[in-house]
Amino acid sequence: MHIAIIGTGYVGLVTGACFAEFGVFVTCVDKDQEKIKKLKKGIIPFFEPGLEDIVKRNLKENRLKFTTHIDEAINESLVVFIAVGTPPRGDGSANLEYVEEVAKKIAKYMTNYKVIVTKSTVPVGTGFMIKEIIKKNLEKPVEFDIVSNPEFLREGSAVEDFMRPNRVVIGAESEQAIAIMKDLYRPLYLIETPFVITDIVTAELIKYATNSFLATKISFINEISALCEAVGANVNTVAKAMGLDGRIGPKFLHAGIGFGGSCLPKDTMALVKIAEEKGVELNIVKSAIEANQRQRERLTAKIINAFNNDIQGKTIGILGLSFKPNTDDIRESPALYIIQTLLNKKALIKVYDPAAMENTKNIFPNITYCSDPYSVAKDADALAIVTEWNQFRNLDIEKIKNIMKSNFFFDFRNIYEPQKMKQLGFKYFSVGRH
Ligand code: UGA
Repeated sequence: MHIAIIGTGYVGLVTGACFAEFGVFVTCVDKDQEKIKKLKKGIIPFFEPGLEDIVKRNLKENRLKFTTHIDEAINESLVVFIAVGTPPRGDGSANLEYVEEVAKKIAKYMTNYKVIVTKSTVPVGTGFMIKEIIKKNLEKPVEFDIVSNPEFLREGSAVEDFMRPNRVVIGAESEQAIAIMKDLYRPLYLIETPFVITDIVTAELIKYATNSFLATKISFINEISALCEAVGANVNTVAKAMGLDGRIGPKFLHAGIGFGGSCLPKDTMALVKIAEEKGVELNIVKSAIEANQRQRERLTAKIINAFNNDIQGKTIGILGLSFKPNTDDIRESPALYIIQTLLNKKALIKVYDPAAMENTKNIFPNITYCSDPYSVAKDADALAIVTEWNQFRNLDIEKIKNIMKSNFFFDFRNIYEPQKMKQLGFKYFSVGRH
C-alpha cells in the first residue's frame, strides 16, 4: 500500500517512518524545502531516540520518500494522512489554517478514491469540516472517505509508543475506510493491540479527553503535594498507595513542577474552548490548567523565599530545560517560567541540559550555558533540578556540595532522598515531602 503523510512535524515524521517500518510505501510531504532536503539525507530536525535509525533504514530500502510535491504524493497514495500543526490561537482555540490549506490541495490533486485521515489533534468537528472543504473544492466528482485516527505517542518514547500503542482509535463513517485502516495497521493487529472503531466526532473527542485526563491526574497529585507539605505527609507514598488501586493506576501521578510540552497545555485549553462554544462547562479541566500554573508559581517561590525575597545577584543553577527528559523540546517548559521569573528579580542564571540548550538560547541568549551539571553547580548559591534526565539521578552529590557557594538544593522532580541530602549538609527542598 502507498500512503502520503502531509506535514513532517513530530507526529507526521514518526507516523511516516513507523509505517515504512511496517512495510508500507510512505511519501512524507512538507512545504519547508530545507527540512525536506535534510530529511532526504536522514537528518532529523529534532531529538527523538530511535527515530533517525528508522528513517535512515527505510530511506535506504526505498519505502520512505520525502518531497515538497504534494500533488505527486496524493496521486500515488490510497491513504492521505493530515499531520500538519494546529497551533493555539490567543484564546486557546486551535488554529486550523494549515489543515484547511491541505484539505484544499487534496481536493485539487485527487483523481481517484482516497481515505483522508486526520492524525494531528484537531477540534471536534474538523473531520466534517475537511469533508465539506474537499467537496466544495473538487474539480470533478471523486469518491473519498474521512477518518479520524488520533495519535497518542509521547515525545521521548515516540517510536516505542507508535509500535506498541495501548490502543488504536479509528473514527470513520464507511466500512471501506475502516477496512483499509485495519489493513494499514495489520502488524498491530497481529500483536493484539486493542482497536476502538467509532464515529469521527467520538474519535476526535477521545484524544482531547485523554490528554485532559492525564493533565488532571498530574494537577491532582500536584495539589495534594501542597497539602502534603502543609501537614507533613509524603506525596510519593500517597501516590504509590493510590496507584496500587487498580481503578486509579500508578502512572501520571508523579508530583513535580507541573506539565509542559506541546500537547497537554494546548489540548486542555482547546478542550475548554470547544466546550465553551457549545455552552458546556468543563470546570475540572479548567481547574487542572489553573493548578498547573499555581504549581510553577509555588515552586519558583520556594527558591525566592529561601533567599528572603532578595535574590538579586544570587547565582541560581538550573538542571534541565526541556519539558521532560529525552527531548530537546522546550515548549511550555516549566524551566522557562522559572528562569524568566528569577531574571525579573535580577538573579544570575546558569543552566545545563543534555539536549535543549540550543533551543533555549533563542529565548534566553544572555544566561550562562554550561557544559555539564558540575559547571552549573560551581559557585552557585542554589541548584534546581527541573527536568528528571537520567544523568541528573546519579550526580556526585558530595562533589556538588563542595563546589557550590551556598547549599540550597531544589529538587523539583523528587529524585533525591530528603534525609540523605540533609545529612550531606544541603538546605534541601522537594515537592510534597516534608
Ligand atoms: C502527551 C501524552 O502523554 C501523549 O499520549 C500524547 O500523544 C501527546 O501528549 C500528544 O498529544 O501529542 P507528551 O506531551 O510527549 O505526551 O509528554 P508526557 O509524557 O505526557 O508529559 C507531559 C508533561 O507532564 C511533562 O511536562 C511531564 O514532566 C509531566 N508529567 C507527566 C508530570 O509532571 N507527572 C507525571 O506523572 C507525568
